[in-house]
Amino acid sequence: MKTQSLESSHEASAGQPTAPVVLAFATQKGGMGKTTLSVLVASWLHYKCGVKVAILDVDGSQLSVYNQRLSEHEHMDEETALRLDKQDIEPYAIHAGNPADVPALLANLAPDVQLVLIDMPGSIDVDGYETAIATLDHLIVPMETSRYAVSTGFSYLNAIRQIELLPIDRCKVVWNKYRPSRDGEIADQLEERFAQYGIKCLKSRIPQRDSYQDASNLSTLFPMPATYLRNSGLKDLFNEILELIPTIETHESKEE
Ligand SMILES: Nc1ncnc2c1ncn2[C@@H]1O[C@H](COP(=O)(O)OP(=O)(O)O)[C@@H](O)[C@H]1O
Ligand SMILES: [Mg+2]
Repeated sequence: MKTQSLESSHEASAGQPTAPVVLAFATQKGGMGKTTLSVLVASWLHYKCGVKVAILDVDGSQLSVYNQRLSEHEHMDEETALRLDKQDIEPYAIHAGNPADVPALLANLAPDVQLVLIDMPGSIDVDGYETAIATLDHLIVPMETSRYAVSTGFSYLNAIRQIELLPIDRCKVVWNKYRPSRDGEIADQLEERFAQYGIKCLKSRIPQRDSYQDASNLSTLFPMPATYLRNSGLKDLFNEILELIPTIETHESKEE
């Protein structure tokens, strides 16, 4: 596949540009929330925290993020166009390609990009998968507490460790689709088990919420509505991710 870009028109900031931090939500299973979490984090940090973000969508089987942006432009009504105009921040760039393209896509980013999120395919048997993972500074594995999700997530992390693509302390698990009453005890136990293997979990646990399917939550042009954020656990996730990347300064308060 040829790489394609939905560019923003960032201008280079003054001074020497520093290399962006590269982070991916990835695992070898589909449906865990890789794309959802990538878009939510990208949108919030870019539009609300002033972090210059780019997404590399290299999940060629779906190109969910790339197609989402195309669809948002295609179906934009007047009201949304006005809102976008008023937002005063250029949308973040979304580049599409294959995992093998990641080094080239990274080399061609706008110079002021500070954080790159890579939307990875749900299978490691894709050409260039290792090439893409090797570029990461941080890998976050979204996981549910079901036996199957835990065993695939855990074997994925072990594979990453065995081929020495990334030090294990750059890899974290995040519980997604989490329901405290159902998952709390098992998640606590699993965290202890993972810790024995040097695998840490993020403190934030992302609740199961039907609203994650709403169009306004999936927007690549706007942050998720603040009303959705309440009790969503996402604010904690955003702040925890900002803590992982302390070299990036935010323009605005981390708190809404
Ligand atoms: N925390 C959550 N609560 C409820 N639904 C979720 C949550 N996270 C993801 N989903 C839903 O699960 C499905 C798979 O998510 P997606 O991000 O596409 O997974 P992946 O990219 O890993 O295949 C989507 O329908 C998404 O809306
Ligand atoms: Mg996906």
